[in-house]
Amino acid sequence: MSLSSKRYKGSSLSFNDVFLPPVTGSNVFPDNVDLSTRLTQNIKTKLPFWTAAMDTVTSSTMAIAIARLGGVGVIHRNFSIEDQVEEVIAVKRSQSGMITNPVTVTEATTLAEVEQLSARYKNSGFPVIDSRTKKLLGLITNRDTRLHSPKTLVKEVMTPRPKLLTQQSNTTSEEALKFFIKNKLEKLPLVDKNDNIVGLYTWKDVAKKQQYPNASLDHQDRLLVGAAIGVFGDDLLPRAQALVDAGVDILVMDAKNGHHQSSLKALEVLKNKFPKIEIVPPNVVTAKGALAQIKRGAAAIKVGIGVGSICTSTDVTGVGMPQFSAVLEVSEAIVKKNIPVIVDGGLRSSADIIKAFVAGSSSIMSGRLFAGTDETPNEPLSEDPNFKLYRGMGSSGAQSGRYSSRYLQNRVPEGVESAIPLRGPVEKIVATLVVGIKTSMCELASVKVKDLWKREFRQYTPSGISESHPHDIILLEEMRRSTQ
Ligand code: XMP
Repeated sequence: MSLSSKRYKGSSLSFNDVFLPPVTGSNVFPDNVDLSTRLTQNIKTKLPFWTAAMDTVTSSTMAIAIARLGGVGVIHRNFSIEDQVEEVIAVKRSQSGMITNPVTVTEATTLAEVEQLSARYKNSGFPVIDSRTKKLLGLITNRDTRLHSPKTLVKEVMTPRPKLLTQQSNTTSEEALKFFIKNKLEKLPLVDKNDNIVGLYTWKDVAKKQQYPNASLDHQDRLLVGAAIGVFGDDLLPRAQALVDAGVDILVMDAKNGHHQSSLKALEVLKNKFPKIEIVPPNVVTAKGALAQIKRGAAAIKVGIGVGSICTSTDVTGVGMPQFSAVLEVSEAIVKKNIPVIVDGGLRSSADIIKAFVAGSSSIMSGRLFAGTDETPNEPLSEDPNFKLYRGMGSSGAQSGRYSSRYLQNRVPEGVESAIPLRGPVEKIVATLVVGIKTSMCELASVKVKDLWKREFRQYTPSGISESHPHDIILLEEMRRSTQ
């Protein structure tokens, strides 16, 4: 191949190839930095982080943890439809603001039935209503049911009105918090002017809102959550429908290549069927790919092919693009479309995240950065309990899962399995990344992520890269390890 060929489009850069010169006169300090961003066209969060839709990274436990911190998790799809829906419901039920449609009982319900409802809905108390008029008659909580026979009727032990304290339907969660503190109660039923039940606050939910002030919340103050769906197969629409019915906020199409006709067609079909849901199509790396997806209703453009730490697809196919150039090409091409860019894969540190923002993205998705933490769905490895598994969704291990079809067409593995040292709670990882990002933003005179889109970048030479890492020394840690 001659480099004078018209088909040769020049070289491309990875994060490692670029560095960011500091901005003279920056007066930004960490406290001024605001990492809130747009994850998708209509969803904003306080932190620019997504945890990847991988079966060694994100199920409901991780999705709850990252959403409480200010990001969003994407529930992987190596699940039956029913099990994936359960995961979404677990996130949505983990906390809420005012419960607008509380589960209720009547005076004739038995305590045995109340117990069953408690186990099913993980609730410790229910409003008691008149089954005919729907008027609120009282409240039954696990404090009332203790020490009574299961056959006892609710009306015999409930806290009846007017003894039961209630508030009007327009009560805010801040007012509910004051109510709970003042009255030392844990449930607050809300009634309309006809005394019908219209909502319920619980101490648990209101306290969580205070505990996690950065949490990513929907309009009912429930945690935001994404879920992965495929591109092919008979279960595409039923899965999407079931996830939407369960309350998912973002459908993330998980396939290796978003440029293909099949991906574009699937996006069109899904967008027609679910016009109000934010749909993020599969990854692209070119301007043309991104524009084709925007035309079909993409809520964000996810960039990255062949760059994941566990990915071997470029080894297999030769198709992909180094991540810095891919983000740059895509974000510059779509800058006027007002659709945010997500950088997916290839990130090793806060420095790479900053470079991803400088290239034009609004948020990052990662598996590697969050793998090995307490909240991932897998247990420590039996070979060595100091490590957890982190594997590509195209690895043979993940592909042997019954529901995975990311790379099924040819069954050549396009990912590998790896061992990651245990890394503790994800909160610690997020805190370290945030400190690194904020420090960098101070040096780059940037208060918001989008300020970074204007910053300069330059290319390293190979000797520049080696100079920018520790060199010409023996690391003490390594010396100690070798003499042990
Ligand atoms: P990191 O760098 O965080 O990348 O490990 C995570 C992203 O990689 C993608 N992914 C894969 N890509 N083969 C691939 O080519 C795979 O087996 C595979 N599994 C995940 C995915 O986009 C993820 O978010």
